[in-house]
Amino acid sequence: MASRFFDSQPKSGEIEEKMQGFPSWLEISLDSISRNLEKIKKAVKGAELIPCVKTNAYGHGLVPIVAHMMRRGIKRVLVAKLWEAMQLREAGLDCDIINMDPVFTDIACEKIVEKGITQTVFNMATAEKISSSAVKLGKDAKVFIKIDTGLGRVGVKHDEAPSLIESICSLPKISLEGIFSTLSEDRAYDRVQLERMLYVEAELRKRGLDPGTRSMASSNAVFHFPDSYLDAVRPGLMVYGVYPEEEDREAGLSLEQALSFKARLEHVKWVEKGESLTYSRRFIAPRRMRVGTIHVGYSDGYPRGLTNKGIVKVGGVFKPVLGTVSLNHHLIELDETGAETGDIVELIGREREINISNLARLAGIMTYTLCVGLNPLLPRVYYEKGRPVAVSEPKIVES
Ligand SMILES: Cc1ncc(COP(=O)(O)O)c(C=O)c1O
Repeated sequence: MASRFFDSQPKSGEIEEKMQGFPSWLEISLDSISRNLEKIKKAVKGAELIPCVKTNAYGHGLVPIVAHMMRRGIKRVLVAKLWEAMQLREAGLDCDIINMDPVFTDIACEKIVEKGITQTVFNMATAEKISSSAVKLGKDAKVFIKIDTGLGRVGVKHDEAPSLIESICSLPKISLEGIFSTLSEDRAYDRVQLERMLYVEAELRKRGLDPGTRSMASSNAVFHFPDSYLDAVRPGLMVYGVYPEEEDREAGLSLEQALSFKARLEHVKWVEKGESLTYSRRFIAPRRMRVGTIHVGYSDGYPRGLTNKGIVKVGGVFKPVLGTVSLNHHLIELDETGAETGDIVELIGREREINISNLARLAGIMTYTLCVGLNPLLPRVYYEKGRPVAVSEPKIVES
């Protein structure tokens, strides 16, 4: 199923040809993602890896990323929205999908059961709806129970969980796949939460119930809290080689950022000393300067906070962003680069100056925010062994 996705993609040469016409695009190294998955697998010592692929695989593009993960042996993924689960099924991907989106209608429940999606449940009303849909369709429904061990966001409270799970398991055509909880990422309190989870497990076993897969750890715990690995870990951001926090780099896992963001110079010109650039005249040229305009702005996900702070790479050197990052544009200094209209500029890359961590820091936002803000419609090109193997792009001309 997953290899069918890659087989249906244009040939590398055709993708390279298409790229000639892209004013801006993202490049994603599938090899980096493979290596990150391998490193995480090794680190979690036998626990299953259930990658979190919510929010368009953290900006990397849902379907190609999941198709690739399946080729690398991933059996289950975690999504936050039902439409993400449906998108994966529509693409013909048959991996297990755990959906965290709440469901309120019978139609949604029936879709979930019909498509073999595992639903997150933490109250009787939802469980009953799912069970009724399963009975109607004559098909077992898979559920994962969310337990609130202390984050206080969603889930059944840990002390009420055993009774609720027992009741849910007694409903017709319900199959319990597992129990999961989210940690607070406060080191001392995480331990309390783990104990609460283990209490739920012990109580279920006392009642003769198998809890199935027990899962707590997302990226933060994979880096810092090995006791929480249990049966399965659910890392998100780290899979894409992005460290949520700088301190995570010290945890001994060396990951590769998979994503880069490139654009072609739209316009190049000389600006005289004292001339102003962009809205509110946020940049005044301190000398005669060569300036380039890039047709990428905050609507593309290039952060507004990089106004007068961003760094790009052009002609092998790092250059500053000048003035305002606007909806569709930003400007850069080009002195001594020799760059001309049409030349490629790297807006986000792997090097420290322009990596996701540094640009998020400069913009005053989280690394998560930078990744998930990347416009889903930007063309994305997927590389393997140095060659483009898949592409996603919005349709401009009906073919
Ligand atoms: C329930 C759950 N598990 C796992 C993750 C992955 O988190 P991270 O990207 O920090 O690894 C998330 C993301 O917020 C989540 O909501």
